[in-house]
Amino acid sequence: MRKKLIAANWKMYKTPDQTSAFFREFLPMVAGHDRDEIAVFPPFIDLPVAAEAVKGSNIAIGGQDLYWEKEGAFTGEISPAMLLALGCTHVIIGHSERRQYFGETDDTVNLKLKAALEAGLTPIVCVGEVLEEREAGLTDDVLRRQCVRAFHKLSGKKAAKLVIAYEPVWAIGTGRTATPQLASEAHGLIRSEVGKGLGEELARKIRLLYGGSVKPENAKALMTEEEIDGALVGGASLDPKSFTEIVKY
Ligand code: PGA
Repeated sequence: MRKKLIAANWKMYKTPDQTSAFFREFLPMVAGHDRDEIAVFPPFIDLPVAAEAVKGSNIAIGGQDLYWEKEGAFTGEISPAMLLALGCTHVIIGHSERRQYFGETDDTVNLKLKAALEAGLTPIVCVGEVLEEREAGLTDDVLRRQCVRAFHKLSGKKAAKLVIAYEPVWAIGTGRTATPQLASEAHGLIRSEVGKGLGEELARKIRLLYGGSVKPENAKALMTEEEIDGALVGGASLDPKSFTEIVKY
């Protein structure tokens, strides 16, 4: 049995004060919930406040991105060691918004993934097709390419902590969710790519999350699919009540 991971991607929302307010409300509502793992990914500047708030709780925190070098003249970037120093255990890599607006490529995803694993962080690598690719029947090719390139020169042993989020870009922030069946199909393909690239043993163990307009209303149908091992939640994770409803689907 793969323990599900329910992750909150806050994107560019919330100040430190708003982060404290979120956890004041959220922590008591999910206290003792151990059926699933819970992780919250606030903006970098909120990490100290978040780390303090979740101390001693069942909630992990992580960064929304990282850079692959250990340190150096890389203005604006954050290293794996910096995330660890703030108490992060997780990191999101290759989110479609980073690919779309900030020049993230399959190759930089690969570099970031290797750096995160090396540092002992649990990486959530995001993959997913845009609408034109889906409509042109290219979904499988895109997912295959994103996986193959992300796993370049990586071994199953090193990748033990890897988590992958399937996030069809046309479903992110649009209110359009992939049907549980469609998500399951994509997850099946991703799992077989993990098997080919990183070995069958890892493919059986690895958690594949679904992301894209996950809401309290659709969480149960998605989370009870056998192939879906959790969720990466954007908009609906900003409100402690709606995120709690998703966690407790
Ligand atoms: P959404 O975002 O839940 O707002 O669609 C998901 C994500 O981008 O991770």
